[in-house]
Amino acid sequence: MKKLDLDFVRNCFPAFEHPLPAKTAFFENAGGSYVARPVLEQYMHFYSANKVQPYGASEICHAAGEQMDAGRNTMAELLGVDKGTVTIGPSTTQNFNTLAVACQAIVHQGDSVIVTQQDHEANIGAWERLCHRQQADLHHWPIEKNGELDIAQLEALIDDSVKVICMTHSSNIVGTINPVEQVIAIARPRGIRVVVDGVSFAPHQWPDIPTLLPDAYGFSTYKTYATHLGIMFVAADFADQLDPQCHYFNLHYPEKRFDAAGPDHASIAALDGLGVYFSNSYDHHIGNEATTLYEKAQAVSALMHNHESEICAHFLQGIASLPLTIVGRDTMNGREANIALTSSKLSSSAMSEALAKADIAAGHGDFYATRLLEHAGVSNTEDGVLRVSFAHYNTQDEVDRVIETLNAVHAGV
Ligand SMILES: Cc1ncc(COP(=O)(O)O)c(C=O)c1O
Repeated sequence: MKKLDLDFVRNCFPAFEHPLPAKTAFFENAGGSYVARPVLEQYMHFYSANKVQPYGASEICHAAGEQMDAGRNTMAELLGVDKGTVTIGPSTTQNFNTLAVACQAIVHQGDSVIVTQQDHEANIGAWERLCHRQQADLHHWPIEKNGELDIAQLEALIDDSVKVICMTHSSNIVGTINPVEQVIAIARPRGIRVVVDGVSFAPHQWPDIPTLLPDAYGFSTYKTYATHLGIMFVAADFADQLDPQCHYFNLHYPEKRFDAAGPDHASIAALDGLGVYFSNSYDHHIGNEATTLYEKAQAVSALMHNHESEICAHFLQGIASLPLTIVGRDTMNGREANIALTSSKLSSSAMSEALAKADIAAGHGDFYATRLLEHAGVSNTEDGVLRVSFAHYNTQDEVDRVIETLNAVHAGV
């Protein structure tokens, strides 16, 4: 496989032209990534040239509407799905909350919903509240000792009462890629819907919805090098069963059915820049033959993933002799480059502070996966784990700085 050209990549991110990002080794990517230049350009263009009520008769309102349509169309093309199946909301937390409310049409008294102990609160709390309102049962797919999920535990929870299974594609703490295909294969013949949280997965591997065929799939574009939005695919046959959550007069726009909020127009318009970023990167690395944006995103994302996996494997090797416990597996086999760890010698906050002194950004805490940490035996969830989360623009030199600093701070205790 071709190598990712890091000079090309880093040139596509204006952040690196500024003093603080230039000197910081940034490993807080799971909290939000830097933004690619074409996205910023489109965002600026909307706010400077088109910042009006879109879709009106005047030329400027028309231009604003066109820019927003381009953002929506590009997102659907990048995902390889019909535009009507893509809800754009302000965040994934908001989108899943809206989806859970819409699911009141299919979850009734005596039914049940399964959530995992591995998920971010965004894909648990909304379902817990739904079950409470509907007098339905909430079941927790438990994690194993190392934080991973075992499909046998899910199978034991499945019966005729289950209407929805909510799971993460890869957790923002554990990093293991979960067997979503297997879960769908178990659920679909029984008429159970599968809602997938791809927020932590998508920055590392662009979601392949046409292959995976989930009932619903959410991720957040502020972690995939773009603006602060939540993207939610809802399969048409699933959407048709649910209570719409939009204004009644917008019902004939399928993409608005689960849009209860109306997010920032400029942020939607700027999503077109993500298509430009993937497209330019495809042309640079692979060639400029005509192909769909979906195929380009998949191909480029494979290069990004490969690069991240290589430098993350180097990281795991470099810290192997330290008294650290990694949540999940300690190899890159079947996991994303997102490593959460604790030390038997130092608090997570002490490690984070030592890294910060060396101009390395890597945070600590529970990252809103509080329930996971509680079940994984991290007793002080406030101190939580140190999380070193990678993006494709990180370099091996930056990784070496993290390794050196973690070794040095452990040598000092
Ligand atoms: C795995 C995971 N799911 C869901 C969310 C919530 O996403 P948002 O901030 O868009 O609501 C996050 C945010 O960090 C996350 O990491």
